[in-house]
Amino acid sequence: MIYVDKLRKEFKKTIKDPGLKGSIKSIFKPKTIKVIAVKDISFEVAEGEILGFIGPNGAGKSTVIKMLTGILTPTSGSCTINGKNPTENRRNYVREIGVVFGQRTQLWWDLPLRETYSVLKEIYEVPDDSYKKRMAFLNEVLDLDSFISSPVRTLSLGQRMRADIAASLLHSPKVLFLDEPTIGLDVVVKDNIRRAIEYINNQEKTTVILTTHDLEDIELLANRIVMIDKGTNVFDGSISELKTKYGQFRELYFETDSPNPVNILNYENHFNFKPDELNIKAEGKTVKLSFNSSIVPVSDMLSYTLGKINVSDISVKDADIEVIIRRMYKHGENL
Ligand SMILES: Nc1ncnc2c1ncn2[C@@H]1O[C@H](COP(=O)(O)OP(=O)(O)O)[C@@H](O)[C@H]1O
Ligand SMILES: [Mg+2]
Repeated sequence: MIYVDKLRKEFKKTIKDPGLKGSIKSIFKPKTIKVIAVKDISFEVAEGEILGFIGPNGAGKSTVIKMLTGILTPTSGSCTINGKNPTENRRNYVREIGVVFGQRTQLWWDLPLRETYSVLKEIYEVPDDSYKKRMAFLNEVLDLDSFISSPVRTLSLGQRMRADIAASLLHSPKVLFLDEPTIGLDVVVKDNIRRAIEYINNQEKTTVILTTHDLEDIELLANRIVMIDKGTNVFDGSISELKTKYGQFRELYFETDSPNPVNILNYENHFNFKPDELNIKAEGKTVKLSFNSSIVPVSDMLSYTLGKINVSDISVKDADIEVIIRRMYKHGENL
């Protein structure tokens, strides 16, 4: 469905020397440097798949989405979506895709939402009867009724995001690009949006590329992850693969009455953890730690802990995806 082959985007960035003199000089003799935002990225997405496209800020995610949607032309490499090249024949191409940039609305600020949709209907040449059915469907999934007569500028961020997603789906696109669709939303609205994305993918087999830095979005929605960092691909696989490959971290929680459990336990001294292989936090009676179980097995941690202090309740958990990915981001590990 989607083939991305050694896609690359370079930007020229003007730099100036400091101070007024530098500013003046840069007007007449601009110095430019090359920024490689996306560095030869390749991946594929199958039809009906939800791909979680993740990476730290500035990794190049939005730039990739912009190339895949035809907003930016790649410096080199190629991408094919549903057999089409996004920058050739863009008019036809946009009929097959839907795009939402969470940070920016594509709706008309002063128009009541309903009229925005009528305009889009004309642009995409959606026939009357399909339009009626489609609006009924979108209203059911995204619950637009209560604000469909209001001008876009009066909507809350959550309403606006639902409205934007509906707009991107009006013409029943085969592929949906969502760039940070849950950014800035509260938990309840996030949950609504995730359900809507899941439902649409389920009902219509829409292929979805979802960029986010909310890892819960990924856990709940994505079948697969492509992770990029500094413009290059650092992981491509399923979430369970990521967990088995990099998830040697375990979390241990326990309750204790000991006055200063962290000092008494002194794990760092007893075991050979390197600084980032053990993390410990105590809050009231609860102690929470995460550690690398390939350095010290869970059983050793448990017997040592129970031998040192009085513990009333204890539980062990796999590290969640959030912990694994934060570590990968932090180290920029090349996987
Ligand atoms: N129009 C542009 N001109 C110059 N540099 C840009 C432009 N757009 C993005 N960049 C740079 O490219 C890199 C990737 O940006 P972006 O794709 O927005 O990252 P992400 O969406 O992962 O946060 C950043 O270093 C950013 O500053
Ligand atoms: Mg971005």
